[in-house]
Amino acid sequence: MAIKVTVNNQVHNVDAAPDTPLLWVLRDVLNYTGPKYGCGIGFCGACTVLVAGKAMRSCQIQLSDATQPITTIEGLSTDGKHPVQVAWTEVDVPQCGYCQSGQMLAAAALLTRTPQPTDAQIDSAMSGNLCRCGTYPRIRQAIHHAAAFAAQKKA
Ligand code: FES
Ligand code: FES
Repeated sequence: MAIKVTVNNQVHNVDAAPDTPLLWVLRDVLNYTGPKYGCGIGFCGACTVLVAGKAMRSCQIQLSDATQPITTIEGLSTDGKHPVQVAWTEVDVPQCGYCQSGQMLAAAALLTRTPQPTDAQIDSAMSGNLCRCGTYPRIRQAIHHAAAFAAQKKA
């Protein structure tokens, strides 16, 4: 029986086993290739998506448990102007890029709950998202940038 999953505001009926990891469904069935396979064991954060606004590992969520709305990097904004997207571009964060959709979604979730995070709060929130290229200083800088940009937009 098809299982209903909502991704980036679109409802899909997916014909896959209930225990299929959400990451597989997103990439192989629904063609959202932003979330990446890094480790498959919940360790690296490359597969991070937002589940009802909270950053979670899609490799660790079974399709049958994906009952809340999912946002991938493709759905973070409709115009590429989410403060995190703007800041990531301005600071030129990515190197190889592989981890970056997960980083950006983790950053977006952080800024939703903590609009002006300190360095310590950034480091703590982002510590589960690994970057083999070592872009951590630029990620931190971009999160501060995004926080300032979001505050400006509100003012
Ligand atoms: S692929 Fe999901 S945490 Fe690494
Ligand atoms: S930019 Fe290469 S792994 Fe993070």
